[in-house]
Amino acid sequence: KTIATLGDLTGKKVLVRSDFNVPLKEGVITDDGRIRAALPTLNALLDAGAAVIVTAHLGRPKPVDGFTFEEKFSLAPAAARLGELLGKDVKLAADLTGPSAQETVAALQPGEVAMLENVRFDPRETSKVDAEREAQAAELAALADAFVSDGFGVVHRKQASVYDVAKLLPAAAGTLVFKEVDSLSRATTDPERPYVVVLGGSKVSDKLGVISNLIEKADRLLIGGGMMFTFLKAQGHEVGTSLLEADQIETVQGYLARAAERGVEIVLPVDVVVADAFDAPAPAGVVAADAIPADKIGLDIGPASGELFAAKLADAKTIAWNGPMGVFERPEYAAGTRAVAEGIIAATSNGGFSIVGGGDSAAAVRILGLDEDGFSHISTGGGASLELLEGKVLPGIDVLSDEN
Ligand code: 3PG
Repeated sequence: KTIATLGDLTGKKVLVRSDFNVPLKEGVITDDGRIRAALPTLNALLDAGAAVIVTAHLGRPKPVDGFTFEEKFSLAPAAARLGELLGKDVKLAADLTGPSAQETVAALQPGEVAMLENVRFDPRETSKVDAEREAQAAELAALADAFVSDGFGVVHRKQASVYDVAKLLPAAAGTLVFKEVDSLSRATTDPERPYVVVLGGSKVSDKLGVISNLIEKADRLLIGGGMMFTFLKAQGHEVGTSLLEADQIETVQGYLARAAERGVEIVLPVDVVVADAFDAPAPAGVVAADAIPADKIGLDIGPASGELFAAKLADAKTIAWNGPMGVFERPEYAAGTRAVAEGIIAATSNGGFSIVGGGDSAAAVRILGLDEDGFSHISTGGGASLELLEGKVLPGIDVLSDEN
C-alpha cells in the first residue's frame, strides 16, 4: 500500500519507522546514507501537511541494570543529522512511549518532526512473545493516526515497530521500501542474464541461505572476503591463520557439488594479500590462493583475483553484490573491494543492472570514494536485501500488502 492509500494527511500525526542504524565512531556518524535515504518519504509526509514521528533503532542494546541502556545507543546523533538534512529542528523524546514521548507528540504541529528514543531500549520491541510486542505496538499506535514503514533495512524483522504496529493503524510502505523492493526484484524475478552475484564479508554462516538459493538462480558466483577461506579449504587448500568456519566446510562442499551439477560457475580468488597477523602494521605480500603459508592470514583478494573478478563481471546483465572482498577499512587491503566495485561500475555502464546490498558494501562504495551513480541501486538493507535475494517473504513487507 502506498502513502496515497492513507488519504488526506493534513493535520494528521504519522508514525514513520525508519532505519537509522548508522555506523558511529566516538559518537560521530561515519556514513549517513540511511538517513539521507529516508528524506523523500519524510518530506512527502511533511508536504502533505502531516506531523511526523520517527521511530528507529540503533544497534542491539541490552539493558545494563534492568532498564537503563548505554548512552552510545542513543539516537541523538541521528536526530541531529536528520535535523541538518531536513533543515528543521528534530526534537528527540527521551523515551519511546513514556511521558517524554507523549509530551513531545502532543506539542507536535503539522510540518514538524519528532523522533522517539531507540525503539530497542524497550525489550518488548524484539520479543519473541507476540503479546509483548503487541503491547508495545499498541503504545506506539496510540501516538499517531497512521503508520508508514520506510525502514527497509529492518523489514525482515518481525518486531513491534516494524510488524505489529502496522496491524493497528492505517499503514503504508514509504517510497524507500518501494524503491528497494522494485530494484531487488529485478534480481529475484526473471533476471536478465548473465546474472552474476558477488559475495564477500566475513561469515559464510550468515550467508548460507542466500548461497544455496543463488546456486539455483545465478549463472556465476564470485566469492571473496573472509568467506573465501572456507571455500578454499572446502577445495582442499590450506588457509594459514585466515578466518575459517570449520563447521561449514561440508556444507560448502555440498554447494560446490550442486553448483557443478547445475553448471553454475563458482569463481574463487587465485591470489590473496596476506599479513603476519590481523593487526600487523603492513601486509607481508601476495601469495597464490592455493599456497597460503601456515603462519599467514589472508586479508584481501590479490590483484590477479581483482582482474579475474572484473573479467567475470564484464558481460553481466544483472549483478548483485553483497560484502566487501577484504578489510577495506584499511587502505592496504582495499584494492580487492575497489577492483570488484570498478568491475561492477564498468558492467553497469555496459547496460548491466547492478545492486549493491549490505551495509558494508554500500559503506565501502562511499568510503572508497567511488561514484555512487555508477551503480543502478545501492540498497540501504543488509540482512533485508539478502533475504529478499534469497526469495523469502519479509514480515514487514507482507504486513503492508493489500490483503492485510
Ligand atoms: C541493519 O543494520 O541491517 C538493520 O538496521 C537491521 O539491524 P539488525 O540486524 O540489528 O536487526
